[in-house]
Amino acid sequence: MLDLAISRRAALMGAGAAAAWLASPARALLQAAGQVQVPAFVDQLIARMTLEEKAGQLQIMASAWGGGAALSLNPPGSGSDFSQQVEEARRGLLTGVFNGNGARMARIMQTAAVRESRLKIPLIFAADVIHGHRTIFPVPLAEVASFEPDLARRTAEAAAFEASGAGIDWTFSPMVDVARDQRWGRGVEGGGEDPMLGSLFAAARVRGFQGADLRSDAHLLSCIKHFAAYGAAESGLDYNVANMSMRRLREVYLPPYKAGFDAGALSAMASFNEINGVPSTGSHWLMTDLLRGEWGFKGFVVSDYTGDEEMILGGYAKDGRDAAKLAFLAGVDMSMQSGLYRQHLPGLVKSGEVPETLLNESVRRVLALKAMLGLFDDPFRRIDEKREAARSMLPKTRALAREAGRKAIVLLKNDGDLLPLPRSGKRIAVIGPFAAGAHDLVGPWVVYGDDSKAIDLATGVRNVVGPASVTVTQGSGVAEPLPGGIEQAVAAARGADIVLLAIGESYDMSGEAQSRTEIVVPEPQQQLAEAVAAVGKPMVVVLKHGRALALEGAVADAPAILATWFLGTETGNAIADVLFGAYGPSARLPASFPWKSGQEPYYYAHKPTGRPNPPGELQPYKAHFRGIPNSARYPFGHGLTYGKIAYSGLALSGPSLPMNGSIQISATVTNSGARAAEEVVQLYIHDRVASITRPVRELKAFRKVALAPGQSQTVRFTLTAADLTFYGLQDRPVIEPGTFDVWVAPSAEAEGVHGTFELAA
Ligand code: NOJ
Repeated sequence: MLDLAISRRAALMGAGAAAAWLASPARALLQAAGQVQVPAFVDQLIARMTLEEKAGQLQIMASAWGGGAALSLNPPGSGSDFSQQVEEARRGLLTGVFNGNGARMARIMQTAAVRESRLKIPLIFAADVIHGHRTIFPVPLAEVASFEPDLARRTAEAAAFEASGAGIDWTFSPMVDVARDQRWGRGVEGGGEDPMLGSLFAAARVRGFQGADLRSDAHLLSCIKHFAAYGAAESGLDYNVANMSMRRLREVYLPPYKAGFDAGALSAMASFNEINGVPSTGSHWLMTDLLRGEWGFKGFVVSDYTGDEEMILGGYAKDGRDAAKLAFLAGVDMSMQSGLYRQHLPGLVKSGEVPETLLNESVRRVLALKAMLGLFDDPFRRIDEKREAARSMLPKTRALAREAGRKAIVLLKNDGDLLPLPRSGKRIAVIGPFAAGAHDLVGPWVVYGDDSKAIDLATGVRNVVGPASVTVTQGSGVAEPLPGGIEQAVAAARGADIVLLAIGESYDMSGEAQSRTEIVVPEPQQQLAEAVAAVGKPMVVVLKHGRALALEGAVADAPAILATWFLGTETGNAIADVLFGAYGPSARLPASFPWKSGQEPYYYAHKPTGRPNPPGELQPYKAHFRGIPNSARYPFGHGLTYGKIAYSGLALSGPSLPMNGSIQISATVTNSGARAAEEVVQLYIHDRVASITRPVRELKAFRKVALAPGQSQTVRFTLTAADLTFYGLQDRPVIEPGTFDVWVAPSAEAEGVHGTFELAA
């Protein structure tokens, strides 16, 4: 098990960054990670290629298989003629395709490439394997709630096992964009609001997808996306600009990408957005100076879907030719879907605007990766129809989906210990648009998942308590009322002892281009909640959501609330495990639930401002919105257990931390409850006075500990001066002496136990 403490420095960029990670045992195991071997034949091959063939190796297109089903996953585009696409493969005008379905499709195309093309260069098959292939795991954000990076490594590995059996060599995953504005729909694909937690999950996922050897026919090449700062879209509007200081970029947004590359990811996807006026896809500073220069990245960069072409409407490129030139010269090796590279690169080289040496370098990177994936040795190594079926949805993979599902469920509230529920003797009314049915289970961004193979909530509940005592009532549509629905729901609640209210967001309310202005439970469902709550039965709100929500009225007032996100194939079973106590909830919020939508972007690591409101009543002329505190209803790190947990006995190894030394911090956590619990113990710091103001709190380490009833445990952390690094006035890492607050606490806004230490000069 990895030590989950990560140094601050490891989460920062630049010279000397990631020192702790470089010294870690996991890194030692992956010594070769991030290195590219270029076999001699690659250069011999390049020497024989025409300009058109070279440009072809830098062009990937959505698969045209099945009438172009892949095209429905992105903005509509041309290219649904499969035989034409096969012909392009034959003519060497294509490096590969993405989101095509299955080994059969891959076999037909690969055969054309390696048997019938002039140079017989194998194709690469890519896909958005975001949270599972056939077996669908919780959405990435939900999995981060487990605060267990190794779980993400395991689910990524299981997804790679299924996908690589289906002919896929390369996944466009993980998405590691830090997201601090819950209006943005794509936070669901990422690692939440905290760079340190996000970095750990980024690295874990890369290790899971890629394994120890890219040649393995059970692993995939991983792609870190969307580089960079896609999650910083202004006002949470997808595709919008990201404007920020270099310090914020380096401290908050860049660390998870860097962690993914350090873990060995050898491809990256350029983000759609611009950063401070320059589109990422056209940013030489980002793709070349930073990524390859400063960070030493050796893999290749692909544009996002038509991202190069979008620089035209974005006001950065004159036309397609200019866009291809700008993207390529910036350092984007491969173009996705626009077709601009194969259309314009040969001409740009002939006119001298793009040096052929640069073109060769990009082709070399791509071919080297194809070689590392074992495709030159055996282009069909991941293409095997029998293996595809044999690996699909195995019981052990479903069991992992169930484990991941229950570990992702956050118990937000549990007044009067309403949960866990008794397994017999109660009539249960499951009410709401997400109570039952093969919909909204696998969640957003699945290419190959299937709701009809997933377990819904009602089935999960019946699996525990039997069918006789369970009623199911829809009550409302997701965004539209259901005629008579509320009356039926009220009647069902009246006839029950316990109500499970399954409400929230449908799968398509988060994901790409699904930003929301109000991050609330949609109005018809809120009305359903008010009416059902008024019946007065014990009510558990089971939320479905792809983002943190602002809960209101009867939903917020319910005695018990479970944040269950989109849990995938085993949704109902995983929720039932928690509802009936087969599993005690252990997850924590990876993104803060604000009081109101209007607080967004809200994140725990905000700055104090010169006028923070003191603890207690809201005061005039202090930093808060009218009527609500400048805090979260449920902050980052929050999550209850079925135990009764108390923090005590903060102890520091000394009053100060020497510049070249370390300080040990320990605290005792006690479970005085009657049930076992797993507590995620979190360590936060605050630098009181610095040359750059510092956040009110920053997560530095955490540990998940199991506590039997009545058990106490002392949890120990170590901090070094490097952990207190930040980006100073010169945009370089600095460490400044001074006083630091430290908390060992159950969330980012809970007091836990608190002390101070000095960083000695
Ligand atoms: C656009 C999305 O931004 C990206 O995440 C995805 O990998 C590509 N489309 C390909 O489907």
